[in-house]
Amino acid sequence: MSATTIYSRLSEQLEPEGAFVYLDLARQAMEKGIKVISFGIGQPDFVPPREFLDKVKEAIDKNFIRYISPLGLPELRAKIAEYLNNKYGADVKPEEVAVTVGAKAAVFMSIVLLTRMGDEVVVPDPGFPTYECVVRYAGGRPVFSILKEENEFRMVPDDIEKLLTKNTRGIIVNSPHNPTGSALDKDDVEGLMELARRRNLFIISDEIYEDYVYEGKHYSFLSFPDWRDHVIYISGLSKTWAVPGFRFGILVARKEVINKIELLATNIYSCPPAPFQYAALKAFEIGIEWFNEVREDYRKRRDTVLEELSKLPGVKAVKPRGAFYVFPNVKQLTNILGYKNVDELSRAMLFEAGVLMLPGTAFPLYGGEGFMRISYVLPVETIRKGFEKIRIWLESRLEGENK
Ligand SMILES: Cc1ncc(COP(=O)(O)O)c(C=O)c1O
Repeated sequence: MSATTIYSRLSEQLEPEGAFVYLDLARQAMEKGIKVISFGIGQPDFVPPREFLDKVKEAIDKNFIRYISPLGLPELRAKIAEYLNNKYGADVKPEEVAVTVGAKAAVFMSIVLLTRMGDEVVVPDPGFPTYECVVRYAGGRPVFSILKEENEFRMVPDDIEKLLTKNTRGIIVNSPHNPTGSALDKDDVEGLMELARRRNLFIISDEIYEDYVYEGKHYSFLSFPDWRDHVIYISGLSKTWAVPGFRFGILVARKEVINKIELLATNIYSCPPAPFQYAALKAFEIGIEWFNEVREDYRKRRDTVLEELSKLPGVKAVKPRGAFYVFPNVKQLTNILGYKNVDELSRAMLFEAGVLMLPGTAFPLYGGEGFMRISYVLPVETIRKGFEKIRIWLESRLEGENK
């Protein structure tokens, strides 16, 4: 064995993200000449306000391209604190804010900071695969909270309580939720916070989809007066501002946590990219009034997906309140078509119908079996075209079977 192929035990815990595996398969399908309509990727398709994007150019022209503080520009951290305080009636101070390299780096750093060897951390299943992967990487044990269709895939406090042991250290919460689009209501958020208080747990609250709520409102864990004792809030610009390539994340926590995050950030990436920090100053000045139009458009897309799904045999879907995902139950369809599992169904749909929908098992384990994630980051006409392709494929498949 060569020296460069002997890896650390910890690195063996990391796994590829199912979504990226499928995006690669979609590329292969396209290389074979298949025209693919992709409901696979989790990034919005709109262009954010020009005056914000133009600031990146301005930053470069002004030579704003050097190292900055590991936690981001101080004036930006102050702006973010003010913005969140207005939004959630919170009392966040500038020194309690860190800008990170995407929300993902914030998730990674907070999990490795708070998880000790043998600690149990509750993660949603289905859920964003990074959570369980990084808990294992940190030497902890992910405990899966299976999100149930009958609860609209919400993380229900009573279910979580049953999972707690003397080794439980924390809970990772993600609302609105990837991949199901579920959104916690006020009672859920209060119930989870109550559990955290009673059992002295941390809550890593990934609120990256906070602005994509179509019915009711978003309840942030920052709204509690005692958030500092339990909560690490994570968000960023990737989804609301449609700039995942900027790698701009936000982490809010008590000052002691931020000091530790500074150590991690310094040793991993020195600082988040300077030009995007400069542009973000503008973003927080503009606010997100303009986003109302985007939300309305996305709501129409969601409703279109639900309408189209209702026309398919063997498929049923919970109406999701948030994010930009629908997570239909395709168990019956998988049976009708004679596939072993949803993974086979996804592959066949991609290579035979030219439509990419991710299998629920990409997120990341058991809870997603029998479900698919549909990301509706496409215009309504394209959504309709995608479903038309599926219907034609299904008709020919079912005809073939009846012969
Ligand atoms: C739940 C969740 N958290 C975090 C991220 C990552 O965000 P970022 O691109 O800012 O790292 C994503 C992206 O898909 C996500 O779905």
